Amino acid sequence: GRLVVLVSGTGSNLEALLAVHGDPGFGGRVVGVVADRPGIRALDIAQAAGVPTAVVALGDFADRAAWDLALTEAVAVFSPDLVVLAGFMKLVGRPFLDRFPDRVVNTHPALLPAFPGAHGVRDALSYGVKVSGCSVIVVDGGVDAGPILAQDAVPVLPDDDEPSLHERIKVVERRLLVDVVGRIVREGLTVEGRHARIG
Ligand code: GRF
Repeated sequence: GRLVVLVSGTGSNLEALLAVHGDPGFGGRVVGVVADRPGIRALDIAQAAGVPTAVVALGDFADRAAWDLALTEAVAVFSPDLVVLAGFMKLVGRPFLDRFPDRVVNTHPALLPAFPGAHGVRDALSYGVKVSGCSVIVVDGGVDAGPILAQDAVPVLPDDDEPSLHERIKVVERRLLVDVVGRIVREGLTVEGRHARIG
């Protein structure tokens, strides 16, 4: 399976996928990495692994619709079987999702449907939950609202701040994302309304 990974930041989830994508048993290969901004560590990681990259920055386009179309084209040139949003901090639009129907997954650092959006870790901490975690979902156009594929939980500790909780979540998030992506490329993904299943 051909994987295209979309990134905005550190790229540790990308790094975890690159660590296994050469294994014959994994079933997928990262063939392209697309970012919404230049100068991020995730792009360095991709380049060091010899994976082609593209940057499609919102500020370079007249409006969001033009940006979304350019992003769609930048991803489409890699002919992906699955598009993985791995710390991609922008919403993709309807034209993007229509081009890759039921083939876009996202990882989120909270136990959805609690704490969607850009500050899931901070919001969970402020709320005072004692357990949080991560969710891998199918992207359907809502904000972290698509069918849930898999989740993993971690404790929230009394002295946690946003970075310490996020780091604990990211350890299980990387593992979960690699597991789910591998199973999808090997077994396929079926979406029926609110529900998605692998195979
Ligand atoms: C992940 O926790 C992702 O869910 C969140 O931002 C983090 C990205 O990490 N939205 P990285 O860029 O993969 O290191």
